[in-house]
Amino acid sequence: ADITSSFRTKPSEKARAAADREVILADPGFGKHFTDHMISIDWTTERGWHDAEVRAYGPLMLDPAASVLHYAQEIFEGLKAYRHADGSIWTFRPQANAERMQRSARRLALPELPTELFVESIRQLVNADAAWVPSAPETSLYLRPFTIANESFLGVRSAQRAAYYVIASPAGPYFAKGVAPVSIWLSTEYARAAKGGTGAAKCGGNYAASLLPQKEAYDNGCAQVLFLDPLEGKYLEELGGMNVFLVKKDGTLVTPELSGSILEGVTRASIIQLSRDRGITVEERKVTAQEWRDGMASGDVVEAFACGTAAVVTPIAALKGPGFVAGDENAPAGKLTMSLRQELTDIQYGRRADPHGWMTRL
Ligand code: COI
Repeated sequence: ADITSSFRTKPSEKARAAADREVILADPGFGKHFTDHMISIDWTTERGWHDAEVRAYGPLMLDPAASVLHYAQEIFEGLKAYRHADGSIWTFRPQANAERMQRSARRLALPELPTELFVESIRQLVNADAAWVPSAPETSLYLRPFTIANESFLGVRSAQRAAYYVIASPAGPYFAKGVAPVSIWLSTEYARAAKGGTGAAKCGGNYAASLLPQKEAYDNGCAQVLFLDPLEGKYLEELGGMNVFLVKKDGTLVTPELSGSILEGVTRASIIQLSRDRGITVEERKVTAQEWRDGMASGDVVEAFACGTAAVVTPIAALKGPGFVAGDENAPAGKLTMSLRQELTDIQYGRRADPHGWMTRL
């Protein structure tokens, strides 16, 4: 039988009481609480994808020699389920996440999960845990699909056994201060990716590499670190966990081009589309940190924002680095930033027509 139509369901025996769930949903934070169920699908070179299951959320049994623990053969995704006013539950461009996960899988020599199976896994989990999709403004159920190599073998080669999982976490804003503008720390010492490396793949290792510079950002009062290109250390790449846009005085949007070492964000692509629909010029090009700094000083750069599934669209007030602050840390959110954020979230929450067919009902 086709695996997409053969999910087995083993309901959790420890599902939390409705009252306990409501306490969590009233103040979910980000990534702290998890729903009652998870998805798992196994893969081997002999059998391909098999044993698709909806089962109780809980610890994984991993052999200590499992290759993911040694050589970091892991990829992940992030997308959200949104509750609309009529109670229905929808997700945003899941095919784009499925396709990016396939590209990540190729780079990490992991098996590619077919798009239909990816979307079905999301549907199965959200249907099992529908009560966990919050309904308060700006809340959602964050979905985290991931694939690990779990073969017990210390030889360095692509594993012949892997597993795909999806977990879900009710989510409020990613940043503690909600949509308030953040400051960004320019990392001059560290790079996130290399030419020919894994920068364009969504793999755990990229995020591991970002943690030390991210700590430097926190220590300097910044919410995210900004990485420059690994070759010349001149051009903007991306933030620790999201893409970046500048708004120029003439109304043009500028965002770093897909250099091969930055992540192709689904939110990034959607913002570009919505902006072009409005007739705004969007330049995907090389943009230097100097252009941003000088532009903030001269008034040529009037707004900046971060975007991603977790961050949605978050205004950036200032760019800081060793010995400099560009912009004003207390500046209010930019107008275009907030109107793009509004348009995107209106589509996601069903408050506005969906002109590109981005929403999928779960
Ligand atoms: C997302 O935006 O979904 C990510 O994966 C990034 C991470 C900062 C949570």
